[in-house]
Amino acid sequence: MGLDVRHLTYVYNPGTPFETKAVDDVSFEVHDGEFIGIIGHTGSGKSTLIQHFNALIEPTSGSVLVDGEDIFASKSRAALRRRVGLVFQYPEYQLFEETVLKDVCFGPKNMGKAEGECASAAREALRLVGLNEDTWEKSPFELSGGQQRRAALAGVLAMQPEVLILDEPAAGLDPSGRKEILDIIKRIHLKGTTVIMVSHSMDDVARLCGRIIVMEKGRKAMDGTPAEVFSRVEELEKMGLKPPSAALLAKRLKARGTDIDDSVYTLAGLIDELKNKLGGIKQGA
Ligand SMILES: Nc1ncnc2c1ncn2[C@@H]1O[C@H](COP(=O)(O)OP(=O)(O)OP(=O)(O)O)[C@@H](O)[C@H]1O
Ligand SMILES: [Mg+2]
Repeated sequence: MGLDVRHLTYVYNPGTPFETKAVDDVSFEVHDGEFIGIIGHTGSGKSTLIQHFNALIEPTSGSVLVDGEDIFASKSRAALRRRVGLVFQYPEYQLFEETVLKDVCFGPKNMGKAEGECASAAREALRLVGLNEDTWEKSPFELSGGQQRRAALAGVLAMQPEVLILDEPAAGLDPSGRKEILDIIKRIHLKGTTVIMVSHSMDDVARLCGRIIVMEKGRKAMDGTPAEVFSRVEELEKMGLKPPSAALLAKRLKARGTDIDDSVYTLAGLIDELKNKLGGIKQGA
């Protein structure tokens, strides 16, 4: 399913002293199977931007097309929302049902699916996020923070979206919770879902995403592969963003005269590069 964002602009509180242009003429296309990371300083418009993609908010100007159809002109927003799943920041705040299973069933039920179908979609989603059967009949509030986050993600996955959009999915979790949720997202992507993930962690987007969009003051400042984006270290730093530690380290080593490829941006890539160079030194010695 193609998602085409065209000249999207969004203004909060127009015509008042609080007027804020949160998204300013942003255009890009999302292709099937991509895993896109959206990064940017706080207040750069990331959350506002992604809330347009399942018609949660309407643009002040510009449009979003799904398979060529303008989602805001169409009468079938409900149908569209099924195809694009949006996981809010801290989605566990929206858990509300008596049991985990009922909560995860809520979305498919709302879509008008039969009871049996809802339950089977919910069970599949719960397994996908690694929540075992012993949690299904519990109250969502009995779960740990990481488990609640996964239950909330399951609630969106149960609607079987073609495009999954996540706003800071790992925010506020401890390191093991972060790893778990990011591994799940990676698996969902590998199964064929297109993923768009807003993140503050350069290391996470460097490791997971094939494409990165950088937002600055509502505008799209960069759009490219991680190698392209993270080669622009100085520009990123000027925007208040800290490039991945591996990219910074590689650049520093290069600046100090080490003969290494400074376009690496993941820890694994840097380790390989150093192993190659050290291996070369040993052989030459
Ligand atoms: N409900 C709102 N009413 C008025 N202004 C808002 C509202 N939500 C966001 N804004 C403003 O719009 C701009 C973009 O905010 P947005 O939340 O989209 O940024 P963000 O990149 O997601 O930030 P963060 O990294 O902190 O989550 C900011 O200037 C913000 O203050
Ligand atoms: Mg945000």
